[in-house]
Amino acid sequence: MLDLLYRPRRLRRTPALRAMVQETVLQASSFIYPLFVHEGASNEPIAAMPGCNRWCLDALSDEVGRAWDLGIRCVVLFPKVAEGLKSEDGAECFNEGGLIPRAIRRLKQDHPGVAIMTDVALDPYSCDGHDGIVSEEGVVLNDETVEILCQQAVAQARAGADLVGPSDMMDGRVEAIRNALDDEGFAHVGIISYTAKYASAYYGPFREALDSAPRSSGGKPIPANKDTYQMNPANGREALTEAQLDEDEGADILMIKPGLAYMDVIFRIRQETQLPIAAYNVSGEFSMVKAAAERGWINERAVVLETLLSFRRAGCDLILTYHAPAAAAWLRQG
Ligand code: PBG
Repeated sequence: MLDLLYRPRRLRRTPALRAMVQETVLQASSFIYPLFVHEGASNEPIAAMPGCNRWCLDALSDEVGRAWDLGIRCVVLFPKVAEGLKSEDGAECFNEGGLIPRAIRRLKQDHPGVAIMTDVALDPYSCDGHDGIVSEEGVVLNDETVEILCQQAVAQARAGADLVGPSDMMDGRVEAIRNALDDEGFAHVGIISYTAKYASAYYGPFREALDSAPRSSGGKPIPANKDTYQMNPANGREALTEAQLDEDEGADILMIKPGLAYMDVIFRIRQETQLPIAAYNVSGEFSMVKAAAERGWINERAVVLETLLSFRRAGCDLILTYHAPAAAAWLRQG
């Protein structure tokens, strides 16, 4: 027999002992459920994201009701904007009669308890497919874009959004949006900032869902990627600078995106802030699990619950995930 003082297996011996020393738990109220919405009269399935749709407004409301009944308390909305409404400055983003404001009002009416988060960025509204305005020289303009983002956030707040989520990565946008919301009487609306958003290939299925990838429509040069504003995947320390800035500028919640390949960034930001932290388990991460599960190569339920629990262990309070309703249902079954 080994002469061991410590035997960590003692506390793993029975289910009761294991439950007693479990450090983190997963619950449906930690999920934020991303939903795509379009103008159509029926739903359009998204090929690369099995189970996800571009929802029409009626079905969107039903889906939010289903999520609520499963214990999910927050949804985030993304619009598939008709090509004819896109422009170089993305002005449709602050149309108070636009798709997102209408969807927010509808959901607030049908499900008054649900917290509604929005995405603040120009890409679904931009004919160039960028999160900001592209100059004639092909530069994504910072300060000019921030002005429009402020109008977008105010329009979303006016429709009833609880949390606005700037995902554009322009400099100084959190403070500018905070001031714009306060000036318009929306001091109670929170900012969940995409603090460390990396220029990632994991967004591929999302851009397909919204038809929002950068593209050239002739005329001016359009950058083929988002590298001049989204972060370099090689950088970790820089995420701490972004976190410091967002906190100083008044963000209420800090988000890291994508999630799985960036768990170290989540952990590092957790050490530096007392604010709640969210991670975005993005479209490509979702699609990979779905693809392997469809082939029977992994146990979907076990992999999803392990993944989401791991975000909590890494330091996340909140997880944006397309798995939210399935995971919430599995958690209910126990
Ligand atoms: C756009 C935005 C993106 C995502 C959320 N907001 C894509 C991008 O930056 O190109 C990606 C979400 C996902 O992949 O699930 N500002």
